[in-house]
Amino acid sequence: MSRARSIRIAPSLLAADFAQLAAEVRKVEAAAADLLHVDVMDGHFVPNLAIGVPVVQSLARCTDLLLDTHLMVEDPARLAPAFVKAGAGTITFHVEVAPRPEELVRRIRDLGVKVGIALNPDTPADAVFSIIDAVDIVCVMTVWPGFGGQSFMHECMSKVEILAERLAPQQWLEVDGGIGLETVRTAVEAGADTLIAGTSVFGAGDAGRAVGELRAIALEAAASRAGSRA
Ligand code: DX5
Ligand code: ZN
Repeated sequence: MSRARSIRIAPSLLAADFAQLAAEVRKVEAAAADLLHVDVMDGHFVPNLAIGVPVVQSLARCTDLLLDTHLMVEDPARLAPAFVKAGAGTITFHVEVAPRPEELVRRIRDLGVKVGIALNPDTPADAVFSIIDAVDIVCVMTVWPGFGGQSFMHECMSKVEILAERLAPQQWLEVDGGIGLETVRTAVEAGADTLIAGTSVFGAGDAGRAVGELRAIALEAAASRAGSRA
């Protein structure tokens, strides 16, 4: 399917200064970020702990940005309702931990939010084929989940290309990990439209400017991709 896609920039709060969260959020709001990416880690599915329900609750009170909530947890079915109640606008869970993903997609959708499915770097695209029409978001991990600041894995781009062909224009194709000024073009040219960026935004001297620069490159790459496929 040919896709004319909008570009979304989603700063990942994992790289923000947690002692100044509201100020960090204001910076990316001012730069017209489209989403706020919220990484939830349980210390089991990934060897790290991050962002629990009370933080999401506080974030929801402090911003109107959609909270794009990435559950890197072993038991997403148990945890999703509390995050939705706290104000999550999307819930993305990992296909690696979902023996019956279609059922979980239904349960999360019934909570009233967009539903996403994420794939680790070594999970093939066909792991999500059976539910691809049922989700709003597919999130391709371009680093191993668990930590910010890792290098972008170019080898995941063939998976992005495969998934881009299968998704309808209203579905989001996210890439998560190592997205910055040097890698965003590659990701968009492969077919991604929703760019999650932590270190390259909050680690930059000027987070707002970083969002603008990422967007400019992404839009240019999207236009050239659309042109080359016309
Ligand atoms: C990694 C997280 C990412 C992370 C990206 O486990 O899912 O969302 O914040 O961080 P950077 O952009 O620094 O790679
Ligand atoms: Zn993430």
